[in-house]
Amino acid sequence: MERVMERVAFVSVLLVCLVSVRTSETKVFRLPQLCKFCDAESTACAATGVCETSCNIASICESPDEVCVSAWRRSGGNAIIEMMCHNPALPFYGQYLTDYNNTVCQMKQVEDTEEEVYICSCNKEECNDRLFFTDVSPPPGTESSLSKRTLSLMLLVSLFPVLIAVVVLLSAFYCFHVFDQHNLNAPKTNGIQIETCAIIVSDDDRSDSSSANSLNHNTELLPIQLDAIVGNGRFAEVYRAKLKQGATDESFQKVAVKVFPYEEYASWKTEWEIFSDTELRHENVLQFLTAEDRKAERRYWLITAYHERGNLQEFLTQHVIGWDELCRLGWSLARGVAHLHADRTPCGRSKAPIAHRDLKSANVLVKADLSCCLCDFGLSLRLNNSMSPEELANSGQDVLSARYMAPEVLESRMDLENIESFKQADVYSMALVLWEITSRCSAIGDVREYEPPFGKLKDHLCVESMKDDIIRDRLRPEIPSSWTNHTGVQLLCSSIEECWDHEPEARLTAQCIVERFSEISSTVISVSSDDKSAQDSGNDEK
Ligand code: ADE
Repeated sequence: MERVMERVAFVSVLLVCLVSVRTSETKVFRLPQLCKFCDAESTACAATGVCETSCNIASICESPDEVCVSAWRRSGGNAIIEMMCHNPALPFYGQYLTDYNNTVCQMKQVEDTEEEVYICSCNKEECNDRLFFTDVSPPPGTESSLSKRTLSLMLLVSLFPVLIAVVVLLSAFYCFHVFDQHNLNAPKTNGIQIETCAIIVSDDDRSDSSSANSLNHNTELLPIQLDAIVGNGRFAEVYRAKLKQGATDESFQKVAVKVFPYEEYASWKTEWEIFSDTELRHENVLQFLTAEDRKAERRYWLITAYHERGNLQEFLTQHVIGWDELCRLGWSLARGVAHLHADRTPCGRSKAPIAHRDLKSANVLVKADLSCCLCDFGLSLRLNNSMSPEELANSGQDVLSARYMAPEVLESRMDLENIESFKQADVYSMALVLWEITSRCSAIGDVREYEPPFGKLKDHLCVESMKDDIIRDRLRPEIPSSWTNHTGVQLLCSSIEECWDHEPEARLTAQCIVERFSEISSTVISVSSDDKSAQDSGNDEK
């Protein structure tokens, strides 16, 4: 009897392990929601019936806990709507969300507000695009009729492990009586493997990286008014523009429009194809809205989010930054590059790795929250497509920026068969940008006027002169010893040096730099709090 009890206990422990492996894995693989995400904008919606928002930005929420929400309010006679992601653990317009597990966004009036306010929440892809002001009485088979079924299903699901436990326990009793200990071990490992495989398979099911951002054909061109040129590239000009939102001239959303002449069809197409992969969407990659063939003007357009602060080079020219800003800019830059290079999204979906191939501070934009996003994918390459080494060797070499070119690119000795070589060349360029950011940080001591790596901006550096410096003399931007008085800057500079190593294989990956930033910023926080407590105790002694 004692032996039987021992075995029952053993089987129970096994079951608990199995169930907890299952629960913890389910948690890890919960995917963040995709929601409509537009700032407050005027709307013609009169808070009756069903309103469609005209928000054409969808964003993957930052955390899987967040759901889609929308708010409608009347402010000074104007009706305004906004769409976003929101964590239901926090209040929204002063209210805790109660119906966020709906698949439709059912508007409810918020009481006790001076303005007329309606809010809704839901948890289905882009469900906050249609706002239901009338009660949604769903046809049988949807919504509330579903909720009863959902409840019974939930009950069944929650009882499922208990049922399984009882069945397995009974079978285990039987097995223990019939077979010896050796035979009992086999199903244990199998069970865990099956669980893991099931999760991996279901995850791979979502690995479709289809293009959601299709070409906006001539019939329905967006109502966009170009305002001012904000950037001048090799193939195109970038304009700040107004995307009209309603009947009046006052309601618009600022966007950026990259205008390509018809002759630059190839660059427009390359960039459009890169942007069209929905898996590229990331907070540190410029948000793409749509592409247009403006036949009448013989122009091609790429329409993207607009960032008021402009590019990183302009920003560094005009601002000296603090240590926290250096960390934010550098970390987000590395995150953008790591996402570009990755073959999986943060949620685990498969994605084509991409090499930027023209990373420089002018191709990085500074967002309002002082994080970076990468732009200008005109020379980028999807690394899983079937370009031959000859095609790769000829693509874009003549137009890349010599100043930021890795030694092996300058020398044309890149291993074109190995996709890692393209990532390593990007990491070299990223290191130069990290150096530029550091050079304008007050933590280094005496901050000089902004200068790009290897000299003044107006000096147009050519490949031949760069070859002598970078390959023959192994020249790199200067890191004065005074910079390293700051622990954080010292650690960061060691990482930068590892990223611009002459040998491509010796360089760190962008993902490694993301992790280094987390380590460095926590080290600096603990160093400065140590300093502070040393100071405090010094004060106590006085
Ligand atoms: N320069 C180039 N692209 C830009 C954008 N999207 N926003 C602001 N400035 C830019």
